[in-house]
Amino acid sequence: MLWFIDDRPAVLASCTDTEIRRWRHRPPADVAEADAYIRRRALDWARDERLTWAVCEPATGAMLGEVSLDHLDLAMGTAEAACWALPQARGAGMTTTALAAVTRFAFGGLGLHRISYLWAAGNAASGRVAEKCGFRPEGRLRDAWTADGRRHDVLVTGLLATDR
Ligand SMILES: CC(C)(COP(=O)(O)OP(=O)(O)OC[C@H]1O[C@@H](n2cnc3c(N)ncnc32)[C@H](O)[C@@H]1OP(=O)(O)O)[C@@H](O)C(=O)NCCC(=O)NCCS
Repeated sequence: MLWFIDDRPAVLASCTDTEIRRWRHRPPADVAEADAYIRRRALDWARDERLTWAVCEPATGAMLGEVSLDHLDLAMGTAEAACWALPQARGAGMTTTALAAVTRFAFGGLGLHRISYLWAAGNAASGRVAEKCGFRPEGRLRDAWTADGRRHDVLVTGLLATDR
């Protein structure tokens, strides 16, 4: 039997959630845009440009969040991690578990040397995820992110294969 899981409702929900829209760029909340978003990610995998994982509820396979390695550069051995989780899944350690698995795969499977993780000051949950996954503070980009009509500094953190 063939089962198809439709990730579009979760992608759409991420486009209307206030907290995700505040801290991440989101496409317009539209089925065609959600479709294009998923197709683009499949293409990015094929081109080794960005690797994206849907983080799912184990029993049903329903998508609850996303973790990605953006700006993948296999020759340099670098990428930048990013994530979001739908509100009903937050605070249960889901993203930390998923991101930690992705960093293990990035170092052990892909042979990357460095993963960056950037989070906006004010986004404490994101900073905590970075900390729990072992990312180390490296710097601060002043006024680099704008949300709610305010500018926020962006904290740069990094994890090296040799940190582990
Ligand atoms: C950041 C985000 C992905 C975390 O997802 P999650 O599945 O809830 O993450 P986890 O449960 O693994 O860990 C969250 C941690 O942040 C903490 N946290 C949550 N809200 C917090 C707050 N307002 N202040 C301080 N800590 C907070 C939680 O207590 C938890 O830490 P703990 O395990 O020490 O208790 C999610 O909140 C989200 O989607 N936010 C909007 C999009 C976003 O910010 N993406 C990241 C952009 S860099």
